[in-house]
Amino acid sequence: MSIYGPYEQSLSAVLTRVEQEIQQLNQQTLDDHQPKLYEHLIGRVKDPDSMVEKCHRKDYPVTTYAALRQCHDAVGVRLVCNFISDITRCLKQIRQADWCTVVKEKDYITNAKPNGYRSYHLILDVVAQFEDVDGHQPGHFYVEIQLRTIAMDSWASLEHELKYKHNIKNPERIGKELKRCADQLASCDVQMQTIRQLIQEG
Ligand code: GTP
Ligand code: MG
Repeated sequence: MSIYGPYEQSLSAVLTRVEQEIQQLNQQTLDDHQPKLYEHLIGRVKDPDSMVEKCHRKDYPVTTYAALRQCHDAVGVRLVCNFISDITRCLKQIRQADWCTVVKEKDYITNAKPNGYRSYHLILDVVAQFEDVDGHQPGHFYVEIQLRTIAMDSWASLEHELKYKHNIKNPERIGKELKRCADQLASCDVQMQTIRQLIQEG
């Protein structure tokens, strides 16, 4: 059995449920003749090996309990939006939703990480019909939501790939260039937002 023990199936079911709820929020928005909330959505249950690695990295015990209670991202959904204002609209909808409770928010858009990483992170508590790691049924499951623009997502994807290249000769220079790139993309996001507003005003 994996680090998720008997809960692996439940995590997949919780992921499916959250994806469906978010797709439904978007559908309601479209039905109200509003622009789509996000461009695309991707969800995943964190690979068990990556979860073991994370427990080691964070100095947590390598246990099912740590994976599901000390870590909050066994289940994750990323919403990639066209515009910064879409992130705000998504946040509003998720905060109001009755199928989850927001238990933590990290605003790496207002406060970008020193390396240039930008995204808005939410940790949700989702109640589902399955037993959880505390023995409660219905159970509580953490879900991490990452909200970002397409520009933020393209940067994060590139940076993520570079992180795993360990034979880089000049990491300082690369870090500096990556940060510059992140800031330029952030400035583009602001420009795009202006363009959208100009179009909407007609
Ligand atoms: P992790 O242990 O990496 O999950 O971080 P954390 O639980 O302390 O929380 P944090 O909000 O820092 O990061 C959560 C997730 O955001 C990560 O698993 C990544 O998916 C993403 N993330 C955070 N920082 C970066 C970064 O600098 N670059 C990239 N590419 N992704 C990041
Ligand atoms: Mg994570």
